[in-house]
Amino acid sequence: MISGFSRLNKAAKLEMVANSFDNPEQVIAQLKSYWHNDPVKQKLFDEFSENTISNFYFPYGIAPNFVINGKKYPVPMVIEESSVVAAASNSAKYWATKNGFRSEVLSTSKIGQVHFIWKGEVEKLQALFPFLKEELYNGTKHYTESMEKRGGGIKDIELVDMTDDIENYFQLKATFETVDAMGANFINSCLEDFAHILKDHFRENEYYDGEEKNCRIIMAILSNYTPECLVKTEVECDIDCLRNAGEIENPEDFAWKFEKAVQIAKVDPYRAVTHNKGIFNGIDAVALATGNDFRAIEAGGHAYAARDGKYRSLSSIDISNGKFKYSLTIPLSLGTVGGLTALHPMARFSLKLLENPTAKQLMMIAASVGLANNFGAIKSLITKGIQVGHMKMHLLNILNSCDVNEREKKMAVANFAHKKVSYTSVKRYVDGLRKTANIENF
Ligand code: MEV
Repeated sequence: MISGFSRLNKAAKLEMVANSFDNPEQVIAQLKSYWHNDPVKQKLFDEFSENTISNFYFPYGIAPNFVINGKKYPVPMVIEESSVVAAASNSAKYWATKNGFRSEVLSTSKIGQVHFIWKGEVEKLQALFPFLKEELYNGTKHYTESMEKRGGGIKDIELVDMTDDIENYFQLKATFETVDAMGANFINSCLEDFAHILKDHFRENEYYDGEEKNCRIIMAILSNYTPECLVKTEVECDIDCLRNAGEIENPEDFAWKFEKAVQIAKVDPYRAVTHNKGIFNGIDAVALATGNDFRAIEAGGHAYAARDGKYRSLSSIDISNGKFKYSLTIPLSLGTVGGLTALHPMARFSLKLLENPTAKQLMMIAASVGLANNFGAIKSLITKGIQVGHMKMHLLNILNSCDVNEREKKMAVANFAHKKVSYTSVKRYVDGLRKTANIENF
């Protein structure tokens, strides 16, 4: 067990980690090589988290040509998986010629809960809840006042009886509007105050004489399930216009196969998870690029996908009256102010690139990128398969893992332009190049 690691300074932490390798000096040099050369900027990154010893780089790419509600966006995406930015870009370009994405935010409420055990008379608790509610609103004014000025605040507080599930278990269930902030800090601060107010309410209210022991606060925390913070985005065209969609010549055949692929993801959880993963490829990449919490978004999205008790595709297809309509409805709790959005220089840059969107606009952008990636994936899957494109993109990763030089890289890219890429075929090709070079140099 290592103890006191967090109290070491950065150099000592680095040394301690490096000492578990055979070549500590090289390890230190390697980790330091990823430090920012401006110490002020490096300090900023170090202070985002704890026990930091280096930075972990992810590529920052752009998917141009997204047309959403008639406005064009170059969308920043942070993702390590090859093909995702390319797929988003291709789909964006494809739909840009067909009126682009039509998006709307359906709702923006978020939920937070105080979970507590009440062993006293339920009727008493219910009868006095309106008074408690007043106290909860008044006692959190120091947080809510500035949020209210921006158009947000606490929209409602309910007392929820959960005693059918767990003996004596109740909730304060509060609904929040956090406008352009994701709002986790605001919500959690209000909720922790609620918990104190609730406890004090039993201690101080004459009606509960001696009953404070009946109330045990378990916890106070926002919910990342946000089915009332919902965005819908869709694309639509005449089926006949799908002629150039993939390698299927017949657009009706393409639409039919596409519909079947989505229907399969609606009924089979094994397929649905992969289908939705393709949606989150795009959404997570935008969330990361804009300093948003992709774990919260994923958790909420997957729960929403299972809202009727079975895990299903988040996107839906409607093929009728000669039209192909593909849509995605998804809960997305995103922010464009506060948190990392203001602190991370690249998150700030991303938001600038998107012309400083509101949270609602960012919800529409992220959802559209999710749908674009999903459309691209299904289009490939039902036509040529994903491996051709994926392995082409992956070629550079394979070449880098073979430590190729620039000349070898150029030759390999040209060689595999029309050939199947696999690790074995690339390795064999590179070995061949080197053998020939050795013979020539001999
Ligand atoms: C890969 O990251 C994503 C896909 O598997 C999504 C899908 O199967 O729909 C291609």
